[in-house]
Amino acid sequence: MVSTGLAGRRVLLGVTGGIAAYKPAELVRRLGEAGAEVRVVMTENAARFVTPLTFQALSGHPVRLSLWDEGAEAAMGHIELARWAQDILVAPASADFLARIAHGLADDLLTTLCLASAAPVYVAPAMNQQMWANPATQANLALLRTRGVGIFGPAAGAQACGDVGSGRLLEPDELVAALAASGQPGLLSGRRVVISAGPTYEDIDPVRFLGNRSSGRMGFAVAAAAAEAGAQVILVAGPVHLPTPAGVQRVDVRSARQMHAAVLAEATAADVYVAAAAVGDFRPLEVAAHKIKKRGDGGMTLELTQNPDILADVAALPQRPLLVGFAAETENVEAYARAKLERKRLDLIAANQVGGGLGFETEDNCLTLISADDITCLPTASKRELARQLIEIVAQRLEQRSAHNRDVAA
Ligand code: CTP
Repeated sequence: MVSTGLAGRRVLLGVTGGIAAYKPAELVRRLGEAGAEVRVVMTENAARFVTPLTFQALSGHPVRLSLWDEGAEAAMGHIELARWAQDILVAPASADFLARIAHGLADDLLTTLCLASAAPVYVAPAMNQQMWANPATQANLALLRTRGVGIFGPAAGAQACGDVGSGRLLEPDELVAALAASGQPGLLSGRRVVISAGPTYEDIDPVRFLGNRSSGRMGFAVAAAAAEAGAQVILVAGPVHLPTPAGVQRVDVRSARQMHAAVLAEATAADVYVAAAAVGDFRPLEVAAHKIKKRGDGGMTLELTQNPDILADVAALPQRPLLVGFAAETENVEAYARAKLERKRLDLIAANQVGGGLGFETEDNCLTLISADDITCLPTASKRELARQLIEIVAQRLEQRSAHNRDVAA
């Protein structure tokens, strides 16, 4: 696949230690086909998995491994190499490597080059899913993202160690496409996006709760798409077992009131709030301190009280972000969604039909995006793809709003 935008680019490819270290051999070929000039730097651990000779043969240049190689330094010193690079792509990037660059270490050639170069740095993480999910790794990624480091992937799926989950290196074609696209400024770069996702649980007693069937997948896909578009993303997640998308700052909550507090704490400084959570409308008036026991043969009545409406409260803020709501309906989808758009004073509502095999707990979905003056139907696609399209529309509306504000101020 020949990709535009990379012809003549000087790409420094860093390879760190991990079972995926063999994959960039194909990446070197693909980058070459796209017209890029590639120099490879490996960490010592990477060289335990794959021989430098492989990369030397494919890139046509000696592979650099150490800061202390006098012959290589004489040919092209490491500072010269740092200046030569127009892009630094590290694939695979191990958890250890991410930790080292997050802390500004320069304890081997590759980390030194990342510190010494003015070129943008992109990392394609690959590791065991548990290492990926570890809060230390996630905190390092969030820090790197705030410093402008691009994060490509990882993908989810079966892993070399037998686990299944997030942490697979993206395929060479995907990495070439991501590098080509990253030359362009992200649609949401410089924007701050808050997203709520998943269900809420309202406790009845220490062992029971009221919940709903939201899987959180749509909100997580929107968070991933917003991060890929360059936004700073804060994901307020109800109780779900989903991996945190790369570079996203996650706040875990359980109840609607906790979600309300977490969202309102972030919303004032946000440009966009996407309310993809299925918030429980009601909670038990009282939470029993002990497990409720059956009494005789009779039924029982649970007294409920209303939860705060998070969207309505964000809409009432003096400096409100662009508001995107979701409406999951089992019937009259468009009419109910339009009513919610108006009642909650939203900029945009994403409506979908649930039930009958659609919506909750499924990978695919179909969305109708409704605003006061427009309606767009996004046909059935994966939630990831729908999220990307939704983010494009959100970016357009933000641009229109900024232009309008500029006109008013002028
Ligand atoms: N929402 C919210 N706070 C609530 C309830 C809902 O912020 N307490 C948000 C949801 O995240 C979603 C939108 O409002 O973006 C619509 O949610 P939905 O449950 O469909 O609407 P309700 O206002 O609860 O209306 P109804 O129950 O009558 O359908």
